[in-house]
Amino acid sequence: MLAATVLAGLIGSSLATPFVSPWNSEELFNRAVTSSGCSSTGTASCTNSSSVSDLCCFQAPGGLLLQTQFWDTSPSTGPSNSWTIHGLWPDHCDGTFDSTCDASRAYTGLSSLLSAQGASDTLDFMNTYWKDINGDDESFWEHEWSKHGTCMSTLDVKCLPSGSPKGAEAVAFFNTVVRLFKQLPTYQWLADAGITPSSSTTHTLASLIAALKAGYGFTPALDCDGSNVSQISYYYNLKGSVIDGTFVPINAPEAGSCPSSGIKYLTKTGSPVSTTTTKTSTSTTTKTTGTSTTKTTSTTTTKTTTTTGAPTAIPTKATIHAIQSGSQVGGLLSLGTWSTQTLASYTLSGSASSLKLSSSKGTCGVSGGVFGCGNGDSSTFSAVTSGSLLLLAYEGETSFSSDDVPSGSTVYAVNTGGDSDQVYTLSVVSA
Ligand SMILES: *[C@@H]1O[C@H](CO)[C@@H](O)[C@H](O)[C@H]1NC(C)=O
Ligand SMILES: *[C@@H]1O[C@H](CO)[C@@H](O)[C@H](O)[C@H]1NC(C)=O
Repeated sequence: MLAATVLAGLIGSSLATPFVSPWNSEELFNRAVTSSGCSSTGTASCTNSSSVSDLCCFQAPGGLLLQTQFWDTSPSTGPSNSWTIHGLWPDHCDGTFDSTCDASRAYTGLSSLLSAQGASDTLDFMNTYWKDINGDDESFWEHEWSKHGTCMSTLDVKCLPSGSPKGAEAVAFFNTVVRLFKQLPTYQWLADAGITPSSSTTHTLASLIAALKAGYGFTPALDCDGSNVSQISYYYNLKGSVIDGTFVPINAPEAGSCPSSGIKYLTKTGSPVSTTTTKTSTSTTTKTTGTSTTKTTSTTTTKTTTTTGAPTAIPTKATIHAIQSGSQVGGLLSLGTWSTQTLASYTLSGSASSLKLSSSKGTCGVSGGVFGCGNGDSSTFSAVTSGSLLLLAYEGETSFSSDDVPSGSTVYAVNTGGDSDQVYTLSVVSA
């Protein structure tokens, strides 16, 4: 209290105008609430078989939690290679929901609140990834907090540790939403399956959901504006409190609004975000001069910037391996068939986003859903990185399939997409 008074005095004397932010007086010295004191391993919300009384440690009635994300293209919001945050919603277990549950906690000035309570990292992240389509991010955050956050039983003021600063439960809400969103890289999950934004390519709902399920482990719900992908919802039940509980992924109880086919995942304008990893290495040098020994420790910090979605270098000569359930099973011959015999050498030209292939038989293309070379077809493919592999994709899809697995001199036709019995990806390996 003494410190706060002294600081208030300093601010008063050094600034011409009085400092009136509601969050920066006593709260300046308070930290965010990071522990609820609840167990995070008990019964998950919506899975209890009898009534639970302590709703500070059990999320109810809003026990079905949705982390919702936007893919805004008109106008575009946020980085061109990331989805953006919509919110975290506490639906009832049956899908109905409450909203705007406590008008007295419809806080404003959220940037100041987050900074004042030690959540500047969360605020920085929100400024990039939690974007309002009309450009008023603060109002959008206020709306999401007051409409949905105030309905979370585990964020009730009475659930906070005593002495918590005003607004601490809202800070906890924003910290949790950002933490969850970082675990849900929708853009990357789609890209890993060869699905990247395009103004012309169309997708089936099944192919999009399969790619997302491979990343999340469960089925999310995808919403569309007409045929254009616009939003996704990842569903959870919760063990413990929204502050620090365990979010348990579950399948979406119902599908979103996208049609079953003809879906467009349109490109965003704007710049891609890059992820920066920082490596620190320490070295120690011991120097002996006469009788004295000097020890020098130096620390080198190397910054490596990786831009996801950036152009990938492609080899000009390559063999194409078939990868099934993580293992190589042969690859492509010069006619474009799948075989376990000696693989053909392919010539690649163009870029990762617009790639042409040819073999000794001629150019390669897709006709009637079947891949082939030397039959007069020439199609445009793309290549996407997946872990350490460079995968071939056709119309945004990296799955290829055949009727059976080849062996000996038996070869099989390569169909685009995953509709035939044996599904695999095609890895481009520099030769
Ligand atoms: C689970 O607990 C909540 C909160 O007490 C209660 O409203 C709900 O009826 C319970 N569910 C079941 C199936 O008993
Ligand atoms: C879908 O995107 C196209 C642009 O490719 C646009 O012309 C159309 O209006 C969009 N549809 C809806 C319902 O927003």
